[in-house]
Amino acid sequence: MKGDSLLVLLLLVLLHLSNSLAQRQVYIVYVGEHSGKKTLREVEDLHHSYLHSVKGSIEEARASLVYSYKHIINGFSAFLTPDEATKLSEMEEVVSVFRSRPRRYGLQTTRSWDFVNLLEGESDGKGGLNHTNEEEALLHKANGAKDVIVGLLDTADGVHVMSISIVPFDLAPYTSDGIAIGALHAVKRNIVVACSAGNEGPNPSTVRNVAPWILTVGASSIDRVFRSPVVLGNGIQVQGQTVTPFKLEKMYPLVYAGDVEVPGTTANITGLCLNGTLSPELVKGKIVLCYSGYSYNVEKGVEVKRAGGAGFILQNPLSGIGIAVEAHVLPATVVFSNDSATVLNYIRNDTNPMATIVPVKTLVDNNVAPFMAPFSSTGPNGLDPNILKVLVNILRAGQNNNMGMPITDVQGSAATPFQYGAGHFKPTQAADPGLVYDATYADYLQFLCSNGVNNVDKSFKCPNALLAPSDLNYPSLAISKLNGTMTVNRTVTNVGVGESVYNVTVQAPAGYWIEILPTSLRFGAVGENRSFAITVKEESGALRDKVGQYAFGWYAWSDGVHIVRSPIAVSSA
Ligand SMILES: *[C@@H]1O[C@H](CO)[C@@H](O)[C@H](O)[C@H]1NC(C)=O
Ligand SMILES: *[C@@H]1O[C@H](CO)[C@@H](O)[C@H](O)[C@H]1NC(C)=O
Ligand SMILES: *[C@@H]1O[C@H](CO)[C@@H](O)[C@H](O)[C@H]1NC(C)=O
Ligand SMILES: *[C@@H]1O[C@H](CO)[C@@H](O)[C@H](O)[C@H]1NC(C)=O
Ligand SMILES: *[C@@H]1O[C@H](CO)[C@@H](O)[C@H](O)[C@H]1NC(C)=O
Ligand SMILES: *[C@@H]1O[C@H](CO)[C@@H](O)[C@H](O)[C@H]1NC(C)=O
Ligand SMILES: *[C@@H]1O[C@H](CO)[C@@H](O)[C@H](O)[C@H]1NC(C)=O
Ligand SMILES: *[C@@H]1O[C@H](CO)[C@@H](O)[C@H](O)[C@H]1NC(C)=O
Ligand SMILES: *[C@@H]1O[C@H](CO)[C@@H](O)[C@H](O)[C@H]1NC(C)=O
Repeated sequence: MKGDSLLVLLLLVLLHLSNSLAQRQVYIVYVGEHSGKKTLREVEDLHHSYLHSVKGSIEEARASLVYSYKHIINGFSAFLTPDEATKLSEMEEVVSVFRSRPRRYGLQTTRSWDFVNLLEGESDGKGGLNHTNEEEALLHKANGAKDVIVGLLDTADGVHVMSISIVPFDLAPYTSDGIAIGALHAVKRNIVVACSAGNEGPNPSTVRNVAPWILTVGASSIDRVFRSPVVLGNGIQVQGQTVTPFKLEKMYPLVYAGDVEVPGTTANITGLCLNGTLSPELVKGKIVLCYSGYSYNVEKGVEVKRAGGAGFILQNPLSGIGIAVEAHVLPATVVFSNDSATVLNYIRNDTNPMATIVPVKTLVDNNVAPFMAPFSSTGPNGLDPNILKVLVNILRAGQNNNMGMPITDVQGSAATPFQYGAGHFKPTQAADPGLVYDATYADYLQFLCSNGVNNVDKSFKCPNALLAPSDLNYPSLAISKLNGTMTVNRTVTNVGVGESVYNVTVQAPAGYWIEILPTSLRFGAVGENRSFAITVKEESGALRDKVGQYAFGWYAWSDGVHIVRSPIAVSSA
């Protein structure tokens, strides 16, 4: 009896605990930019006092504080109930209060750096590894606390460039997005912040890290191919790619997975090398052709290995030229989706099909036009369609760029600025751009004013006449839902040679008329600014059936040496 009531009591305590744990979450309370010269101690006291005002006691306030951002960003993270969070968010000095959810962010470093600039392709999450566990481990490793990102950005001392391969899974307003907040304060200190655009493409509006003060980087192919063809017994070579190191010295018997499965493998999953489907007796010592689908590519290799296979040939999960190059657990190569039929026909047609896979040879400077990785996130900007993110792609020098061979999507169709932004980054030319579009911290605060955010920096007053978001001095032009005519101004600063004259060239988006005035900019010295006005007008009637659809163009200033090119995206109302 006594035992029972103790148990009940314990259960009640546990229930209560788990209830309150479920209710209390880590929130980030963002107070804006530090002003004045408070000591770190005073800042922490201030944060305690905010907490004290919503918690019962100073002890509770202290116990709930997780971390104080004291250096650049003024804010803190704390365990709060939803009620307490609401109360804090209603305080005048508080810019925003948002849940710290590490799961909202995906680390992208594994894709871009592990294999050092591989061609990678993945459209539906089934084509590659499941990185979730790895990501969590990495986020965990980075710092046990939940507010790593803001914290890292708060303590960026002596840093000039930050490259952040972390992407929020969903779009949040700028002031509820730890990366955007941190980056803004970093930009104030002249730190360049570059972030990945995300790997949620190719669907529209998947681009993340869209704050205009962030340099956003997409993913595209580079001039490198990891060639590893299949040689069939009849002498035919089928092109393939791999990054798995191996050496196959001879020809092996070649089988199609669909022919070497255990009984009971249903027709809808045949040929896919799913877990447990291959028969070891029929597979041992052979090379297996696996079709793509229903499981991660790497798991297919694990299954072939389990069944004793000597290697495997994987059908690329996507049609087109974006190859899913991954590290496999046994000799393997990936063939173009259409080419898998060649291999299967050979198997079907030969009494003793044989094959080998040629070990990888890395070829640089192949003559393939650059294309966007199919997973690379895409515009339009879901948060502010009037900002065309100047995405730049993984470095690719050479002639295959947006001024020469057009960048394509993975199917070979022309890509748009929603995919490649301003195009490929060319380091040598970027070091001597001629003109720059300067935007200051104050310009970004004005931009935030137009977005209804007026308290990030208490020393800044929003102007009475708000600018349109398109008016931010940005090196691209996006106008969403143009109704008739719009004029925006831009200012360029001469960072090239002293006396110079730049003339403008315009490629108007189809269905629009564009005028840029003046058409010539004359500079007398380095550091001078010149402004110009861009007028965009809908050609009458041209777009009646294309409401909401974007059309693309560009304009460029050139002095004959430098070309300063800006993409344009316009949709009509
Ligand atoms: C990836 O793995 C995690 C943990 O094992 C799981 O929760 C998640 O659903 C998986 N994601 C996919 C797309 O399979
Ligand atoms: C294949 O079909 C079987 C029943 O015929 C079903 O149970 C199974 O879920 C299907 N598998 C897939 C991957 O669609
Ligand atoms: C397939 O097998 C691998 C390796 O044993 C395992 O990690 C994975 O969870 C399995 N997948 C499914 C869908 O059962
Ligand atoms: C398959 O597609 C690739 C890339 O588009 C192409 O190079 C190749 O010739 C095609 N193969 C066949 C058999 O059509
Ligand atoms: C087998 O080869 C012959 C001759 O090369 C060809 O006509 C036929 O289409 C092939 N059959 C299959 C199933 O590929
Ligand atoms: C652009 O600049 C001109 C003068 O250079 C000014 O008259 C005009 O109001 C400006 N337009 C906008 C939209 O700022
Ligand atoms: C040019 O514009 C930038 C940014 O607005 C400003 O900081 C700079 O002082 C201007 N330079 C001149 C010479 O007006
Ligand atoms: C710019 O235009 C002027 C006048 O048309 C012309 O004299 C000059 O050569 C042009 N400069 C360049 C670099 O095209
Ligand atoms: C476009 O502007 C005109 C007047 O300037 C207005 O009557 C019309 O409603 C506007 N259309 C849209 C779609 O906003």
